[in-house]
Amino acid sequence: MNYSIHFVLLIVCSKCIAVNIKRMDVPALVELGTESVILDCDYSTGETPGPGLVIKWFFNGSTGLVYQWIPPLRPQVIGLLKGKVDMSFKISDEPLQAYRAIKIINPGTHLSGNYTCVVSTFIAEDSQTRSMLVYSPGNSFHFDQEKKYVFLVTLKCVAEYLYPRPVMTILSKGVPLERAVTDMRMDSWGMYSVETTALVHDDDVTSPWEEFVCLLSLPLANYTNNRTTIYYPGLMPTHSASIEVKKPMEHQASNSPPLARCTLLFTLLLSIKIIF
Ligand SMILES: *[C@@H]1O[C@H](CO)[C@@H](O)[C@H](O)[C@H]1NC(C)=O
Ligand SMILES: *[C@@H]1O[C@H](CO)[C@@H](O)[C@H](O)[C@H]1NC(C)=O
Ligand SMILES: *[C@@H]1O[C@H](CO)[C@@H](O)[C@H](O)[C@H]1NC(C)=O
Ligand SMILES: *[C@@H]1O[C@H](CO)[C@@H](O)[C@H](O)[C@H]1NC(C)=O
Repeated sequence: MNYSIHFVLLIVCSKCIAVNIKRMDVPALVELGTESVILDCDYSTGETPGPGLVIKWFFNGSTGLVYQWIPPLRPQVIGLLKGKVDMSFKISDEPLQAYRAIKIINPGTHLSGNYTCVVSTFIAEDSQTRSMLVYSPGNSFHFDQEKKYVFLVTLKCVAEYLYPRPVMTILSKGVPLERAVTDMRMDSWGMYSVETTALVHDDDVTSPWEEFVCLLSLPLANYTNNRTTIYYPGLMPTHSASIEVKKPMEHQASNSPPLARCTLLFTLLLSIKIIF
């Protein structure tokens, strides 16, 4: 036999045993806390699929095998997805399609990345890749004022447990305050906390009051949220030193230990000293 006959046979045969991924369904965006997601890879194998049909799923490139199914065996979950997959989930009753999809239970943000589905037989192969982002809109998002000084107010906006990297701005009349300062932190799980503060002078507020907006967004997740706070210029400070002096007295009233009484005495002496 010469090689050209082999070659012709291969071409003729590949018509009936070609594999072809028709559709790949991977949700692009998933909010953290979602009960489950299904990653599907719908393929056709021709009329008589060739021997050696294998369905494989990879995460973030060809070294990250996470799922493998060789019909009619049971599917296997490997590495990153171990313990995260509903093993009884079947997307179809057809013997060569049943376990092609992965149902991930309660996906975490660390499962964000590129998923590749590879369908192959001994002589044919097809693959497709889609990305999935599991984002966290965070918690305890709040926007407050700190009034320590006359004529000045500190606007402070905080949000925690965000993913991926957030952007936070404080808007005055729809325009970001340029002097606002943003502090961003990432914990060991990769979750972000963000805090933006801005000092506003009463002179900057030209109306009897102003509503400031704190805008939080996760650009990669197409997510935005906001909080508002209304500031009235001319108010006297609320968090002044006088409140701090009051605290030891409250202790005294409620059966305080000797140490608290000492503190009170010290505070009184200090106050007297200041008065004189
Ligand atoms: C994921 O895919 C995008 C585009 O498809 C690519 O730019 C990126 O490098 C991939 N990331 C990884 C970790 O493979
Ligand atoms: C996977 O790739 C994405 C970028 O596509 C990256 O953000 C993520 O950290 C990677 N995940 C792991 C576990 O390597
Ligand atoms: C984010 O929104 C833009 C415009 O609305 C859209 O084109 C893009 O596909 C969205 N991104 C994702 C990941 O859904
Ligand atoms: C703030 O959010 C509300 C909905 O909650 C929206 O109607 C409003 O346009 C948002 N404001 C800004 C400045 O994005």
